[in-house]
This record gives sequence, structure tokens and C-alpha cells, in this order.
Amino acid sequence: MHIATELSAQLNQLQQQNLLRKRRVFQPGAQQYSFAGNDYLGLSQHPLVLKAYADGLQLWGAGSGASPAVSGFQPPHAYLCRQLAEWLGRDDALLFSSGFSANHCTMRSLAPMYSRVVVDKLSHASLLDGMTDATSSWKRFRHNNVQHAQQLLPAKGTSLLVSESVFSMDGDQAPLAALADLAAQATADLWIDDAHGLGVLGAEGCSAAGLFTQRQLPVITATFGKGLGVMGAAIVGSSDLIAYLHTRGREYIYSTAFSGAQAAAVSAAIGLAQGHEGQYLRARLAENIDYFRSTCAQNNIALAPSDHAIQIVPIGSEQAALTIGHLLAEQGIVVGVIRPPTVAKGSARLRITLSAQHAKADIQRLIQGLNQALSQAVAQEKSEEKACR
Ligand SMILES: Cc1ncc(COP(=O)(O)O)c(C=O)c1O
Repeated sequence: MHIATELSAQLNQLQQQNLLRKRRVFQPGAQQYSFAGNDYLGLSQHPLVLKAYADGLQLWGAGSGASPAVSGFQPPHAYLCRQLAEWLGRDDALLFSSGFSANHCTMRSLAPMYSRVVVDKLSHASLLDGMTDATSSWKRFRHNNVQHAQQLLPAKGTSLLVSESVFSMDGDQAPLAALADLAAQATADLWIDDAHGLGVLGAEGCSAAGLFTQRQLPVITATFGKGLGVMGAAIVGSSDLIAYLHTRGREYIYSTAFSGAQAAAVSAAIGLAQGHEGQYLRARLAENIDYFRSTCAQNNIALAPSDHAIQIVPIGSEQAALTIGHLLAEQGIVVGVIRPPTVAKGSARLRITLSAQHAKADIQRLIQGLNQALSQAVAQEKSEEKACR
């Protein structure tokens, strides 16, 4: 059978390259120190979010039962769209089951309308896949390099300029003001994927939307599974953008809507992120980020620049990153071990995510574990080198 031999050959090769991903069951609570999720404010466990979900289940059932274009768009979904539009100062929003499908759908729908799509090189796979699926007229600019983006924007026609507010695997932020200026000068429409900024950055957690008008920033990806602690996503923008995607977006039309209960939970999370509690949680998160970075500096643990909850320990080799991740896991500390193809070859890293819910003691424990694991991995590497000579 062709598929059996082909799959086995591919898997063997991935294994040899240390790129095979193993499925592991993560048991929340059992792992005492989790620094791997994107629940930056801890809203996934907030009593009001849980209550809204539980009440929503009683009211709306476990599933929506249909695509939003048929009967899956129910009162809690409509409420959530209005709430998003009001919060982010936009006309309307369209809901998707995931950020991946929101991005892919929107890119596939919009890209053919532009003379060129110009996107940051490190943008999420959903944006890049949607772009290459939809058009051959695209270019990637060097990461956060506005000058390079400018060179790639054609003089004629309107282009679509795409970036992210916070880069998921690096933790750094896009030069949003410079990108917005460039878009205005070069007749381009700006699209920011705000997956890791929403709820976490800016006044009331509005992130990129709070900085620009709808005219300056006409397309925003809002995801609900990160700073808002639930799941799902939305594209937020003009009434026409939403009407078009509603009518033409294949991932939107041909997919079951998420449940009304989930919509109610997301609404509760937004309510919290917007208000005093959000302000308090963002302040606690900022304190944790400062504490983590200053304690790493005292311990000579090198970090990539980032003042976001995403903190990167650059490692390099895939094998070393795996070993360190494993050594940390043995101590009950879970961090993201990021390898190609998610990042470039030779740039494997630990992705550490901080939350407003981490106590200082948790962070101290993480740094102690990191110190141990990093020096153990170096010692291991040295003894392997010696054995090979
Ligand atoms: C920048 C960015 N955009 C989009 C997504 C996809 O969002 P979701 O997890 O809701 O599919 C992610 C998540 O990995 C992301 O990091």
C-alpha cells in the first residue's frame, strides 16, 4: 500500500531531524507550573466566564446545530457581534470557529481584489496559506521592516498590507504607527491580526483598534482563545466587509457556527477585559513580565526583546530545545518548545507565556528550573561532543 510506506518514510525522516511532534495529554492542574498557554489574563477560569458558559448551555444547548448562514446565528452571536463592534469602534463583526479559519477565509476572499498583498514574513500560517491559495501577486517583507514593505508596494493600484500586532513565536510587536502611515501614503489597506494583543494591550484592552480609525485600519482579526480565554474568532471592520464575507466566505458559510453558550462566554470575557478587572489583570501581567525579565537578567538567562506576555529563550538546535523542554517537564514545568517549520531551521526556542494569574513564586520556580535545565543541557551537549571525537 503506497500510503503506508510513504507515511512511514516521512515519519522516519521527521524523527531523525527531531521534528516529529508527539501528542501528549496535558492535564491542567496536574502540571503545577504551566507557562505554555495563551490565556494571558486567566479569563478561561474566571467565575463570570464559566457562569456565562454554564447558563448559556442551559439556554442554547451544547451546539448551534447549523452554519451561521442557516440557523446557527442566534441571539448570543448577534449580541457578541454588536459588542465587538462597539468595543473596537468598528461597524460590525463576523464570527468564526477559529482564528485560523477567520484569517484564511478573509485572505482568500479579499486577496484577489488587490493589485498585491504585502505581508510580514513572520505572519501566521493562516494568513500566508490564504494568500498563496488566493493570488500569485504577493510579497513578504522582512520582519517588521517598514522600509522593505514600502519597496514592495506597487505604485499602481491598491494593495493589502498585512501584519500582526504581536508576533506569536517572537513576542515582539509590529511598528503599527509606521505601517498605518505607510498604508495611507501608498494607497494600501491595512489588516492587523490582533490575536495576541486583544484584551491584553491598550486602554480597555482594545489593542490595535484603539489606536486607529476604521479608515486607517479597515481589517482586524480578533481571536477569542488567547487573551479572552475562550475560543473562536472574528473579523471586525466595515459593514460592507462583513456583508461580503458573510455572503462569500466559504469557511464561514460551510461550517457549523460555534455554540450560543460559547458566544455568551466570550461576551462575558470581553465585559471583564473592558472594565476595571481587565485593567487590574493587565497591570498584574505587566508586573509579572517585569519580574520575569529582571530575574532572568540577574541569572544570566538570555531572552529575546519583548515586553509582552510571550517571552522567548533562543536556543538554536532542535535537539537542545527538546532536551531542555523535557528536563523542565520532569520538574513539572511546561513551556512551549518551538521548532521548524513553525520557526526557521536552527532557530528553535523556548516560548514562555506569562499570565496575570502567575504568582511571583511560580516565576521563581520557572527560573530556577530554567537555570538547571539550561546548564544540564550544556553539560550533556559537551559530553556528547567528547564522545564523538
Ligand atoms: C497570530 C495568530 N493568528 C491567528 C491564530 C489562529 O487563531 P486560533 O487559535 O483561534 O485558530 C493564531 C494562533 O495560533 C495566531 O498566533
